[in-house]
Amino acid sequence: MDGNGRWATARGLPRILGHRAGAEAVRRVVEGCCELGIPALTLYAFSWENWRRPSQEIRELMELLVEFLQGELDRLRANEIRLQAIGRLEELPPPVLHQLQAAMAQTEAFHRMTLTLALSYGGRQELVDATRHIARLVQQGRLTPEVIDEQTIAQHLYRPDLPDPDLLIRTSGEQRLSNFLLWQISYCELYVTPTLWPDFTKQTLVEAVAAYQHRQRRFGNTTVSEATNGQSDPAAE
Ligand code: FPP
Repeated sequence: MDGNGRWATARGLPRILGHRAGAEAVRRVVEGCCELGIPALTLYAFSWENWRRPSQEIRELMELLVEFLQGELDRLRANEIRLQAIGRLEELPPPVLHQLQAAMAQTEAFHRMTLTLALSYGGRQELVDATRHIARLVQQGRLTPEVIDEQTIAQHLYRPDLPDPDLLIRTSGEQRLSNFLLWQISYCELYVTPTLWPDFTKQTLVEAVAAYQHRQRRFGNTTVSEATNGQSDPAAE
């Protein structure tokens, strides 16, 4: 969700007001995804590398997260949205973790849409954590190296049940992956928009989805078949 800082700076405002406007965009996009029938939305809200930011910005972002989780819980429940999170969540300040766990517990039965917040998240860190877990199983004799395959790794990611994304939207014109879902985006379609995140609207979302609908997804195969377009087909790799 890039561009909050630039949005604020362009208006002579402190960066936190860009993040606050970004939180409004989150509300719009969650609602827009629900309306479009998108089953899973993952938002990169705070990267593992973001811990390097000035302590004041981190503190204000964490306060904003608590506020968002408190303020949105009723709306999530009313819209039957399940909230979950990925990342090194144990590194979050206790009030954020507490609020997050409460919101996840109170929405876990919902299935209309899954909203996943990536917090203290890094794709490389996720793979390190999965590798440590798998190595421990080998050490305990519960797994042999020969049986480790793609499935084994996928099963040890933070949320193994989360489907691989079909579309990754990058805002503010940035053309890099920034350590986001590195394993899961192998066959993901990329969409880059110059729109700064706080300016992102339901219309921007519809434009991204419309662009996605014109993509030809081959998953390593030579032709596009109706049967495989839109979903990963490992047999075709
Ligand atoms: C990157 O923009 C954005 C972030 C590090 C924080 C994103 C947070 C929000 C959108 C609000 C809180 C989240 C939720 C889920 C309510 P940047 O600060 O790097 O912007 P810049 O590249 O223009 O400096």
